[in-house]
Amino acid sequence: DFGLDHKDGRLPLEVTESTEGPGGLKIGKLLSETGYVTLDTGFVNTASCTSEITYIDGDAGILRYRGYPIEELAEKSSFLEVSYLLINGELPTPEQLTEFQDKITNHTLLHERFRSFFNGFPSSAHPMAVVSSAIGALSTYYPDSLDPFDPEQVDLASIRLLAKLPTIAAYAYKTSVGQPLLYPDNTLGYVENFLRMTFGLPTEKFEVDPEVAKVLDMLFILHADHEQNCSTSTVRLVGSSHANLYASVSAGVNALWGPLHGGANQAVLEMLEKIHADGGDVKAFVNKVKNKEDGVKLMGFGHRVYRNYDPRAAVVKKATRKVLDTMGVNDPMLDLAMQLEEVALTDDYFVQRKLYPNVDFYTGIIYKAMGFPVNAFTVLFALGRLPGWIAQWREMINDPATKIGRPRQIYVGSPERHYPA
Ligand code: MLT
Repeated sequence: DFGLDHKDGRLPLEVTESTEGPGGLKIGKLLSETGYVTLDTGFVNTASCTSEITYIDGDAGILRYRGYPIEELAEKSSFLEVSYLLINGELPTPEQLTEFQDKITNHTLLHERFRSFFNGFPSSAHPMAVVSSAIGALSTYYPDSLDPFDPEQVDLASIRLLAKLPTIAAYAYKTSVGQPLLYPDNTLGYVENFLRMTFGLPTEKFEVDPEVAKVLDMLFILHADHEQNCSTSTVRLVGSSHANLYASVSAGVNALWGPLHGGANQAVLEMLEKIHADGGDVKAFVNKVKNKEDGVKLMGFGHRVYRNYDPRAAVVKKATRKVLDTMGVNDPMLDLAMQLEEVALTDDYFVQRKLYPNVDFYTGIIYKAMGFPVNAFTVLFALGRLPGWIAQWREMINDPATKIGRPRQIYVGSPERHYPA
């Protein structure tokens, strides 16, 4: 409710200059003789978009992909099955899955000249910058898959992106640690191949821990789509100009990079490490949050759409202890996170505000245990989110009602001014 006299989201005209709209937006004088004007504070493809892909009920804490509950998919499916489901709308038959996997396996390699692209970045480069540039650069190698209205080209671009992102992500990591790039090993599964290219060395045989691969696969499933969030609406918006799929996904990676979106799990880990370094007093930390002392925030709690426990966080929480035990990792951050959750969830301040842990609360602890540096966490998010971006882009491009995205702007600046003489 904007606190204004409005019907069906339409604001009456002649709103005064001092009127405050959503997000503190100052609404300028809307001058018109008659009728109503729609105040749409988003973009065409963010505020007004329908979708058949992901269902979220933020009050009940429900998330479904194409109708299937996230908990069941996380338990029973593989990431590639879920990718197929998101993109095609149906779970694959065993034959369809084999065909899909084979196609992906055939495209894991990067062009030989493209490999040298990675040497051009400083070793301090943030891997998200490398990943987004590399995805954009795919369009230069594959002009045969740039036409948004040719379904075969779109299929090819979708497969190439799914196949090559693990290679790109692993190379971004290798560049940052100054290690040689490994070719994909196509006898391995999707996640196993990614882990080997990331942590393997040319001189040593790398054994992929199947439990680690399984948990990472499951984390990718949990991140695979989350309706019209910042990065997904970016992908749709860029695509609405008929930019190709590579260009659109590259833009989505940049949107995901921000600490308010994909970078949030890094912020959680940093918060836990700070609490630990300060002596591990969780109650004192929670009090600081409540009193808004020193700008301290409880990272990984609360979500724009959830007024309940984020269903993804519930699955991750269960997996965290198991994966750490399997790997023989004893990380005090996990105990801290659990204490913090308990204290917060029994405190009226958080209960009344319906602040629950979100998906980012535990994932950083798992990624750290797996050996990923913190600046790679967002890249893992991007790997998981890729099928969602592809599915959403395809839905947008196939919808005859899609128009190029354009914000509806209300001018709130100076009135006409005369140029100084
Ligand atoms: C996501 O999964 O994209 C995040 O929870 C952010 C969001 O959905 O707004």
